[in-house]
Amino acid sequence: MAGYLVESTRKVTTHRLKEMKAEGKKIAMLTSYDYTTAKIVDAAGVDCILIGDSASNVMAGNATTLPITLDQMIYHASSVARAVQRAFVVCDMPFGTYQVDAKEGVRNAIRIMKETRCDALKLEGGEEILETVQRILDAGIPVFGHLGLTPQSINKFGTYAVRAKEEAEAAKLLRDVKLLAEAGCCGIVLEKIPAALTEQAVASVDIPIIGIGAGPADGQVLVIDDMLGKNKDFSPKFLRRYADLFTIMTDAIGQYVTDVKRGDFPNLQERY
Ligand code: KIV
Repeated sequence: MAGYLVESTRKVTTHRLKEMKAEGKKIAMLTSYDYTTAKIVDAAGVDCILIGDSASNVMAGNATTLPITLDQMIYHASSVARAVQRAFVVCDMPFGTYQVDAKEGVRNAIRIMKETRCDALKLEGGEEILETVQRILDAGIPVFGHLGLTPQSINKFGTYAVRAKEEAEAAKLLRDVKLLAEAGCCGIVLEKIPAALTEQAVASVDIPIIGIGAGPADGQVLVIDDMLGKNKDFSPKFLRRYADLFTIMTDAIGQYVTDVKRGDFPNLQERY
């Protein structure tokens, strides 16, 4: 792992995540949805890999995260977990698998853990789902919270605009951060909220706060396809692109098409 700011090849655990916050060490989190990508992400030193329900958008082409099913998430998550040696692996519980009641939430949580070998689950929401979060934690399953812009509620919000700019929503978010931390969550993702509010959240709890479009926090998360520039249509202010894979891949594939069409591939060395 030379070249990357990685201190140890030891498996990242809930304990290590809390330690990293206490030591002021930033946590790098990134999504992955398949085995090959997860192997690369893990080798590059990412601390936490999220099988986000953003798979619904980036893998399946849906407009929202709502359609992805439990079986589809289990397929993505088990592929990722199989590839990872060091990173802490978190799987999103998809829409509809934990909102009905705590009993169903725990049953689905146990199924994901058994069938994927992930390290933790992520659920969207605060006080409204606290009983479910508590019951999943009581079953011995680590839980990440997710507050602010929670994409599973996009139809209620009606917009992907920044959340918690008003005082009442900001106060509720800070309350929810405390409730989730007191319940025993191992971390919380804050999405698309003002940086000043994130700063308050970070100072209020001893578990890591991971931001996306939320300013500086204990760590950051991005959707891998976005940060690698595979998708040219999504350019929010918070996104930093580290590559232009759209161009690199179309150039490479275009060259392959040309080579096949002019009979240049396969050449004499590329045949049996
Ligand atoms: O589904 C996802 O990828 C996420 C991240 C954007 C935090 O929840």
